[in-house]
Amino acid sequence: MSTHAALEQTIAQMVDETRGILAADESLPTIEKRFAAIGVENTEENRRFYRSLLLTTPGLGKYLSGVILFEETLFQTDDEGRPLPEVAWSQHIVPGVKVDKGKGPLTNAPGDLITRGLDDLTERLQRFRAAGPAFAKWREVYPITPRNPTRLGLHANAEVLARYAAVCQEQGYVPIVEPEVLMDGDHDIDRCAEVTEHVLHSVFHALHLHGVELEYMLLKPNMVLPGKDCRRAPPEEVAEATLRVLKRTVPAAVPSINFLSGGQGPEEATANLNAINQLRGNAPWQLSISYGRALQQPALQAWAGKPENRRQAQAELLKRARLNSLARQGRYRPEMEDEPAVLPE
Ligand code: 13P
Repeated sequence: MSTHAALEQTIAQMVDETRGILAADESLPTIEKRFAAIGVENTEENRRFYRSLLLTTPGLGKYLSGVILFEETLFQTDDEGRPLPEVAWSQHIVPGVKVDKGKGPLTNAPGDLITRGLDDLTERLQRFRAAGPAFAKWREVYPITPRNPTRLGLHANAEVLARYAAVCQEQGYVPIVEPEVLMDGDHDIDRCAEVTEHVLHSVFHALHLHGVELEYMLLKPNMVLPGKDCRRAPPEEVAEATLRVLKRTVPAAVPSINFLSGGQGPEEATANLNAINQLRGNAPWQLSISYGRALQQPALQAWAGKPENRRQAQAELLKRARLNSLARQGRYRPEMEDEPAVLPE
């Protein structure tokens, strides 16, 4: 298959009107934090068990069209010995892989960060091919302070995202482009809107410069929200601010925008997505999810590291996936949270 045909096929498999993406690609330090919160040791076997629990959830493919995996997961198997990417495919969920190698300080831009991993990206994408992922993900983060992001921070992070996306498309992988404006801080929603607008503008400028074909990428942005230490904004206000910024910056050629949850609670993230879809008007893109914490938190808590809790954990994941699928269609109501979490017969 030609590279173009591969990209086209992946977009067709991942983008529809009801489903979203699960981010299960926590790096070793991040999964360590998630496991520590439920008293589970961060061993390779625990990570394998937990991630195969997620991927073997009965009926998950009804609500999810993609899953982002950590590199290690590409080469792990479920309890029956099936490679985990194959388990995803068998559920009609496209597997992808996180390819950034984490962040560090950006020299001469105090407070800004930059992500590593471009040098051997082509070789890694070629090596992963046999394991079956069809898309990739790369995250750049932008802390908000009175001085950040700087002009250099905006420029350098956009360049890295665009270079990553161009290499992915050359290698036949659909890139998920993730510029995340962080929620940390006491800034208000207007400041988040201002920064997110600068960020997305610089990212699409760089994508254009690097020849990235917007039809064959997905955007994974933050919602426009007040900082964690500021008063919470109601879903309608979040939706209005988020749509305004996206309409100003994201070309109509992008097929789908899949939000990260970024520290919102599971119910908050679902309610905000619902409001965005209710207010979307004539927005040209699908507006869906690529949540990590907001999909996994109840499942992690139900599992608590105990094999006998497996089915209950799967039921919790399925419930969040289903409610977000409804929210993605603007059909979620908060009372639905009272429904029990159950697996299909
Ligand atoms: P959260 O939804 O937990 O922010 O995770 C999404 C993600 O993939 C961050 O890179």
